[in-house]
Amino acid sequence: MTEILKADLKNIYLASQKIKEGKIIAFPTETVYGLGGDVFNPEAILKIFEAKKRPKFDPLIVHICNFQMLEEVVVEIPKEIEKLIQIFWPGPLTVVLKKNEKIPSHVTAGLSTVAVRMPQHPIALRLISLSDRPIAAPSANPFGKLSPTSAAQVFRGLEGKIEIILDGGPTPLGIESTIIKPEDGKIYLLRPGSICVEDIEKIVGKRLEIKKVPTIEAPGSFPSHYAPSTPLFLLKGKKIPEEFKDKKIGILAFKSKPEYGKFKKVKILSPKGDLLEAGKNFFSYLFELDNSNLDYIFAEKVPLKGLGLAIMDRLKKASQNKFI
Ligand code: TXA
Ligand code: MG
Repeated sequence: MTEILKADLKNIYLASQKIKEGKIIAFPTETVYGLGGDVFNPEAILKIFEAKKRPKFDPLIVHICNFQMLEEVVVEIPKEIEKLIQIFWPGPLTVVLKKNEKIPSHVTAGLSTVAVRMPQHPIALRLISLSDRPIAAPSANPFGKLSPTSAAQVFRGLEGKIEIILDGGPTPLGIESTIIKPEDGKIYLLRPGSICVEDIEKIVGKRLEIKKVPTIEAPGSFPSHYAPSTPLFLLKGKKIPEEFKDKKIGILAFKSKPEYGKFKKVKILSPKGDLLEAGKNFFSYLFELDNSNLDYIFAEKVPLKGLGLAIMDRLKKASQNKFI
């Protein structure tokens, strides 16, 4: 049975005991809910993969609560990365570095690197600290589906598969962490996320590189991901093709109610046109549209700057790059 527990100190402590026993639990971070297990316990790691039906080749992010823990996870920290983590941690920046041999290969899908981040959410930090070890955690959703930003959404996806969901309310940012990787003197952006690319570039004084061909390294970068069950299309302009005339359509609009088309349900990401607010609402609005018995979901494009880059990345994957 899966229980949703209010994330007070008593229950965070209970969850930390479960982690120590090799069980897996869901908990809030500032980005999305994570499904956590003891990084050093291969059985716990296998449970995470099973609960999510996640392919074994897709590595997990390791969550730490202080800089001391970082030493148990990675071998070395390049200077540029040191600077970035001093500025952005705790926070939604994930760095991929050479892994410490203590980290079981299940966590990193056999790669010699490990993805690590120090979350900012007080419940996540408290949980890691009480567990007294780093916690490996992917987003707490079945593989390929929408990322959960509330305990209820975790429940819907993983009911019966985990014992405990720590409920810390809706996650404040709503979009996953930005993932970067230093390599050959360059820094690669593996996944746009809640830390804006522009802010990272300002600090390192150079542009982030993008890998041309998505590699197995970051399956989050494969074309189909973050997908609702209802087919989703991205709108090129402000016209709905004739063939959709009699269909039940919901729209995820950016900042105002569309004056074109006829929609059964309208969700507006941010009436102020604020990308931070849009990010916070993004997954929960998609969940709502997905559960509204619609034939199709249409989504408007958002500006390709700041957080808009991460939102467009998720929309392209949710639509499998289908524009109409
Ligand atoms: O905000 C977040 O990052 C959330 C919260 C829970 O922390 N976590 C999250 O994890 O989004 P997940 O598993 O859904 O996405 C992690 C991504 C995957 O696309 C994975 O392929 C990539 O990180 N990744 C993990 N380890 C990697 C590595 N060693 N090299 C390259 N990519 C890696
Ligand atoms: Mg995920």
